[in-house]
Amino acid sequence: MKTAIYPGSFDPVTLGHINIIKRAAAAFEKVIVCVMVNAAKDSGLFTPEERLELLKKSIHVDNVEFDINRGLLAEYAKQQNARVLVKGLRAVSDYESEVQMALINGKLNPDLDTVFFPSSEKYTYLSSSVVKELARYHADLTEFLPREILEDVKSKIAEKEKCR
Ligand code: PNS
Repeated sequence: MKTAIYPGSFDPVTLGHINIIKRAAAAFEKVIVCVMVNAAKDSGLFTPEERLELLKKSIHVDNVEFDINRGLLAEYAKQQNARVLVKGLRAVSDYESEVQMALINGKLNPDLDTVFFPSSEKYTYLSSSVVKELARYHADLTEFLPREILEDVKSKIAEKEKCR
């Protein structure tokens, strides 16, 4: 079975991610959407487990599964018997770091290749960071987030504001 892994921080999942997941699901027999816990990044708005739940709430496609991984992506791909990583490319600015990651992952696991999906024009500007920034200003997020998680994001921001 041709399995592809779509890794990311997904803090939180956006409509841009959903677009890539659907396209990857049409191209591969199985897609594992994996929340990668990045040791170098700050703790984030949502915990990895919460991000996983938000993903599961947002999209239901038969050949799409969800997971969390705390290790190296290249090792995880071996464990899953996957030879393809899927990444979305929004702009030229993404290109350099994404190609660097693809090359490192290929070095660590020579059976592994990376396939880039150009992001849909509609979502070229979109990122989880932009969504979090807008959420802090209570902007309308309906065009950016799956409707299933709009309230989760709003209430998490409100909860964080109370703690400040
Ligand atoms: O959504 P993001 O933050 O752009 O995703 C980046 C991510 C999580 C895919 C990347 O940081 C990653 O793969 N982290 C796992 C650790 C790893 O394998 N690092 C080596 C690749 S350079």
